[in-house]
Amino acid sequence: MTNPAIDLLLTRRSVSANSLTDPGPTAAELEMMLRSATRVPDHKKLVPWRFLLFQGEARAAFGKILAATCRAEEKDPGAFRLENEEKRFLRAPLVIAVISRVVKNPGAPDWEQILSAGAACQNLILAATALGYGAQWITEWCGYSEGVRRALGLAENERVAGFVYIGTAKERPDDRERPKLTDIVAPWRP
Ligand SMILES: Cc1cc2nc3c(=O)[nH]c(=O)nc-3n(C[C@H](O)[C@H](O)[C@H](O)COP(=O)(O)O)c2cc1C
Repeated sequence: MTNPAIDLLLTRRSVSANSLTDPGPTAAELEMMLRSATRVPDHKKLVPWRFLLFQGEARAAFGKILAATCRAEEKDPGAFRLENEEKRFLRAPLVIAVISRVVKNPGAPDWEQILSAGAACQNLILAATALGYGAQWITEWCGYSEGVRRALGLAENERVAGFVYIGTAKERPDDRERPKLTDIVAPWRP
């Protein structure tokens, strides 16, 4: 018996941001992806994530900010590096910054809220893959930069969980080896 959901889980592979191109998802598809992302487990229903969308001209505009931030934060980045920063978000038609947002709550420790943001990233990727797109969850330097945090308007309790790049795959990667279950699964014994 085939099960499409299990097939998706057992065959999903990330497609490198460099291998993504137009067209990106339609507005209706994007909404499906975002709604999928909001279906993740969320202890105490705190909604500990939000999403910033980069499409069209916003990607080049943010690239200018990335280049300026890189120049401010890195020692002597060089023209080639700065040119690449300008083009960073142009690698895919859609980039979604998934923002982890930790709300102080005695019933849901920070750790659980951060895990929920990770699950939101993964649901985005799964939904994108299910709709036939390629997707990759990356952080790179900009996921950890103070200047980029400021440019994104993140509050003190927020941080980048990932930038999820989504687009049409120019090429699909070969499968890669996965860990053997026997190495990582064991029955608990007292
Ligand atoms: C939180 C997180 C951050 C990541 N950041 C990067 C990154 O900056 N650059 C990168 O090449 N891969 C990064 N990856 C790995 C890719 O998302 C992906 O797992 C990798 O390309 C392997 O493909 P696979 O998902 O098919 O196993 C990151 C993964 C996670 C979970």
